[in-house]
Amino acid sequence: MFSCRALQTFSKTLLVKYAPDVGVPYRYNKWLHSPSCTAFSGFSRGFASDKATQKVGGSDPERMQRGLPKKLPIAGVKHIIVVASGKGGVGKSTTAVNLALALKANDPSSQVGLLDADVYGPSVPRMMGLKGLALADERQLIEPLVNFSIKCMSMGFLVEMDKDPIVWRGLMVMSALQRLLRQVKWGPLEYLVVDMPPGTGDAQLTLAQNVPISGAVIVTTPQDIALLDARKGAEMFRRVQVPVLGIIQNMSVYECPKCGHREHVFGKDGARALAGELGLDLLGDVPLNIAVRETSDSGSPIIVAQPDSTLARTFREIAQNVVKKLPQYVDPITGRKT
Ligand SMILES: Nc1ncnc2c1ncn2[C@@H]1O[C@H](COP(=O)(O)OP(=O)(O)O)[C@@H](O)[C@H]1O
Ligand SMILES: [Mg+2]
Ligand SMILES: [Zn+2]
Repeated sequence: MFSCRALQTFSKTLLVKYAPDVGVPYRYNKWLHSPSCTAFSGFSRGFASDKATQKVGGSDPERMQRGLPKKLPIAGVKHIIVVASGKGGVGKSTTAVNLALALKANDPSSQVGLLDADVYGPSVPRMMGLKGLALADERQLIEPLVNFSIKCMSMGFLVEMDKDPIVWRGLMVMSALQRLLRQVKWGPLEYLVVDMPPGTGDAQLTLAQNVPISGAVIVTTPQDIALLDARKGAEMFRRVQVPVLGIIQNMSVYECPKCGHREHVFGKDGARALAGELGLDLLGDVPLNIAVRETSDSGSPIIVAQPDSTLARTFREIAQNVVKKLPQYVDPITGRKT
């Protein structure tokens, strides 16, 4: 069925071995000559048409008519917490990573996962100090990569971000997300923290419509433009019936690492005011501190690198506040509440 020889070889080896039904090209790049190859376009079309979506989402005509795809839980995962914002660069990934680590630090017996849903600009590999490609087993299930006892999965573990064509990634955003949710051995997990891409687009909707999200946390800086987008984000989640747990204000106050003096660079209470206006809680206020950036850039986030610092304490308090706001977990099979 494939005309390109390279692809044939590829499909016979990796595809057949790892992912015969969905054709997941974990390392297709090595075998493909160019994206203009006809086999490639057929291949990527097949990929984009997305069997996974049909399986979990909207192939049922009745559901389609009502416009309500069924939300299927992820096996073994109790709570999915998404970290979102309207705008890029406000510190979503930083917050998601530290929230995951803080949940674990607050309750070391709990199992925590971190899903990087930013397919175009994954940050989790760098921030969690993880490199390499993920492997699938004979049942086509992908093993998450683990660091600091957190199970992590990211597009960055499935394709080589610097080498693979961006257009190809565009075609598979949705299917990639489905795969990152459904074909990864997540369970058992108390919490799966999802680092969302910016905005209120397809990725947000795909997620909100396909899996039961316990709650969304909105990250914003106090600047007007970020606040405006944060509001849009909160409204979108409400529209798709995802509870918004609250708002985290990031980088409102500059904290000098030398003398500790604090200065409100972008205004003090923008996020608090927005929270009040939307009837939401302010879950925490994270200062702009170079240690936050340096530690996550070096792959050892503040919670791990400086566990006794005030900054780490701030994130742990945020995690506590998030947990307090989570709805009770109801086991979908037994109906038992925990
Ligand atoms: N509280 C903070 N103090 C200092 N730097 C921060 C803070 N929060 C985020 N950053 C830095 O800002 C940049 C953008 O953050 P990131 O988490 O990648 O944002 P997003 O995921 O929203 O695009 C990163 O370099 C990150 O290290
Ligand atoms: Mg990010
Ligand atoms: Zn100073």
